[in-house]
Amino acid sequence: MADIGRIVHEVAQEMAAHPERGEVASYIPPLAHVDPGQFGLCIVTSDGVTHAAGDAEEPFSIQSVSKVFALTQALGKVGDTLWRRVGREPSGTPFNSIVQLEREQGIPRNPFINAGALVVSDVNLAGHEPRVAIGELLRFIRYLAEDETIVIDETVARAEQETGFRNIALANYMKAFGNLTHAAPLTLGVYFHQCAIAMSCRQLAMAGRYLMLGGLHSPGGARVISAQRARRINALMLTCGHYDASGDFAFRVGLPGKSGVGGGILAIAPGKAAIAVWSPGLNECGNSRLGTLALERIAEATGWSVFSPSGSGRS
Ligand code: DON
Repeated sequence: MADIGRIVHEVAQEMAAHPERGEVASYIPPLAHVDPGQFGLCIVTSDGVTHAAGDAEEPFSIQSVSKVFALTQALGKVGDTLWRRVGREPSGTPFNSIVQLEREQGIPRNPFINAGALVVSDVNLAGHEPRVAIGELLRFIRYLAEDETIVIDETVARAEQETGFRNIALANYMKAFGNLTHAAPLTLGVYFHQCAIAMSCRQLAMAGRYLMLGGLHSPGGARVISAQRARRINALMLTCGHYDASGDFAFRVGLPGKSGVGGGILAIAPGKAAIAVWSPGLNECGNSRLGTLALERIAEATGWSVFSPSGSGRS
């Protein structure tokens, strides 16, 4: 069994000193001011033990990592009928691209690109006021993380509402194809608020346990989703969780992972661990530069990989 505590501290130390940290997301104004010198890491193992290092307690904007929880919520509401409105294929395009939508009649390639996440928000909004829909998602995440202190950063939500012109275009374009049931501003409101949820690495790793535990909330805990659904969400994270860098992430890390432009990544070693990393500097595909590197180091040191003979590593 690898010494996870030692690995966590060594990786955090290396990343804290790393000179090349990438560029923080500046298209969402409040994110442009986040200190790129920060790095946080938290691993929760299948026995429920938590190992944290660096800025693991610092809340950050989870951005697109929220798409995992929103997808889980939408599948709980409409089940497999969701797949009539959104695909399950990697896009090979940037997260905010519009190019495929025209050719594919307003059906987004997958639920993790922005267009797909907007459809998921539209599903979660059905039958609710927007603030009730977002409240439901927030409560779900608090339940998963066992932490009632998780909140939405209203400054970030407002900034996205004021500057999210690409998302506004995507929503309206899908509306024109009949793939948005609500008025675009309502669906966008839900989407922007879910992206603006702030969480620490510790909270995010805790919230990700159900994907490591075959759908159980915690070791020996209640069932959140079926084992099949957990496997399928992990499959989508692996194939689509890093947009046009999903292949590179699978090659380097070998675990299902979902990134966000706030610099966070949630990665899952099924049956082994839920891992949250955060470093605000991004690579050219909008994924955390040091977060990816840290996960590569962790996968190497632990042997955790969905491609290793034992399924998820040697430890
Ligand atoms: O909609 C957006 O552009 C952002 N709220 C989220 C994008 C994002 O996190 C992409 N991930 N790497």
